[in-house]
Amino acid sequence: MQSVIYLFGALIAALMFSPGSCKQTVTALYGETIEVPCNEGNNKPEGLIFTKWKYIKDDDSAGDLLVKHPQKDEATVSATDGYKNRVSIAENSSLLIAQGSLADQRVFTCMVVSLTNLEEYSVEVKVYKIPSAPVIKNKAKELENGKLTTLGECVAESGNPAADLIWMKNNQPLMDDGKTIIIKSTVTKDPATHLSSTSSSLQYTASKEDMASQFTCMAKHVLGPDQVSSAEIFPIHYPTEKVSLQVLSPSPIREGDNITLKCQADGNPPPTSFNFNIKGQRVTVTNKDIYTITGVTRADSGVYKCSLLNKDEMESTQIVTVSFLDVSLSPKGNVVKKVGESLVVSLEKNSSAEAKVTWTKDKRTLDKLPSFSNLTYSEAGLYECDVSIEGIRRTFFFKLTVEGTPKIRSLTKHRSTDGKHKVLTCEAEGSPQPDVLWSVNGTNDQMSYVQGKATYKLTVVPSKNLTVTCEVTNKLGSDKKDISVFSLFEEEKASPDKSEGGAEQAKVIVGVVVGLIIAAALVGLIYWLYIKKSRQGSWKTGEKEAGTSEESKKLEENNHKV
Ligand SMILES: *[C@@H]1O[C@H](CO)[C@@H](O)[C@H](O)[C@H]1NC(C)=O
Ligand SMILES: *[C@@H]1O[C@H](CO)[C@@H](O)[C@H](O)[C@H]1NC(C)=O
Ligand SMILES: *[C@@H]1O[C@H](CO)[C@@H](O)[C@H](O)[C@H]1NC(C)=O
Repeated sequence: MQSVIYLFGALIAALMFSPGSCKQTVTALYGETIEVPCNEGNNKPEGLIFTKWKYIKDDDSAGDLLVKHPQKDEATVSATDGYKNRVSIAENSSLLIAQGSLADQRVFTCMVVSLTNLEEYSVEVKVYKIPSAPVIKNKAKELENGKLTTLGECVAESGNPAADLIWMKNNQPLMDDGKTIIIKSTVTKDPATHLSSTSSSLQYTASKEDMASQFTCMAKHVLGPDQVSSAEIFPIHYPTEKVSLQVLSPSPIREGDNITLKCQADGNPPPTSFNFNIKGQRVTVTNKDIYTITGVTRADSGVYKCSLLNKDEMESTQIVTVSFLDVSLSPKGNVVKKVGESLVVSLEKNSSAEAKVTWTKDKRTLDKLPSFSNLTYSEAGLYECDVSIEGIRRTFFFKLTVEGTPKIRSLTKHRSTDGKHKVLTCEAEGSPQPDVLWSVNGTNDQMSYVQGKATYKLTVVPSKNLTVTCEVTNKLGSDKKDISVFSLFEEEKASPDKSEGGAEQAKVIVGVVVGLIIAAALVGLIYWLYIKKSRQGSWKTGEKEAGTSEESKKLEENNHKV
């Protein structure tokens, strides 16, 4: 009976108690068991009669959930709605609601009724849920340079409260500037679960630099760490602004080479087909950017162009030069000429660039090619001509042989240093090299032959006065010359100091003659002179030819004085 009175009193008190006066808030996770504490565990007063959990319905009316009597083990669930099978009470009087959902976001009140008191503790429950990780959907296939394009839509689904979405480029947040970047966010609620999905579309004006930009979307939520979508990269399309024609073949291009042309355009995606303009002739290549001309000739030199298929004015030009070098040298090979003749050398050249010409004779560089108007033996040799332009080099040669009948230039004699021999020197010119034939036997034949000039030496020991002949012969003819050689024995006896062929000799001869003649009569002298002259005439010329014409002159002078 008493308890009924108390219960009644408690009910009055409950009515008087304004619900939600000192309200506590708890946050629970969606789908999990919600624990609604009752006065933070301090809910077991002396004389506790029962503990009751109730809630405020959507229409603000009160609904009972359960009642627990301390004497009973089990609570009595009075709820009839969705809470009927989901609510229970913990040992410390916390209300446990299984399978928390957004419908559980309301105010729950714990009523503690004791013999002396009635307390109510209201708790506002919030049920939160982390949304699904953000995902970028409806991605653009490519972005166009400078043009506002919808890049994609970022979606973070089923959260509570709704997530905030932030677009990022290279991990830097993008801000809506109403012009080049436009971000529109919408939040939609699932009618069944009341969970919120946030969607954010990004319209973005890309530039060429965005080729490598990474776009991500970040979801911020009260419950947890920021979630970031996977990064997206977008190709940036832009039209071609510049076409460039390249000649891939290495320079210089020579006749017979291939010319490979490559046309490039800076647009993205790059054009795949081009028009090549080959010296005025149009060639279209599709799905490639290369055009090759094989085995070019000088006629392929000229202006080459390439352009875009749909935009002829976007073109690039290259001037291609095919190098060539035509040279003809006359004469060629072996050239045989007679000494004194002339030889005309002509080098004709036709080339794509100024050709460099160098001449060598017997491998030695010549300043310039001599004019062969009067050929000499020394001009014989191997003439090589090197004509070159960049990348091309041609060499030609002719071997000039200068022939001539032998001619003796000089025939001289002198005594050897020990005075025991006479050495005869016969110098001759002629080509081919003449053979020499001496009219006397001798020893130590020495020979040299340089540039058509032959020198022969003969060492003799004349035991008597001799007339020696030097005869030189080649296939073209011969020449000979005589020289008188006095007996070595006689000379030594008569005048040991006398050296033949010298001016000294004349003086000595004069001295001897004068000494002998002092005592002779003028007639005798004249007669003697007459005799001597007539006897020596034949070989005296030989002495003269050896360069002693002075001798006879002086001799005559002296004779006249005497
Ligand atoms: C009530 O008890 C549960 C375990 O049954 C515990 O997790 C919870 O923290 C307790 N609440 C209070 C307010 O003491
Ligand atoms: C030269 O010597 C050879 C033998 O060696 C001899 O037969 C010849 O008669 C000699 N000639 C003269 C011109 O003395
Ligand atoms: C050689 O010539 C010299 C000078 O002319 C003369 O004196 C001499 O008698 C000649 N000797 C011989 C062997 O003929």
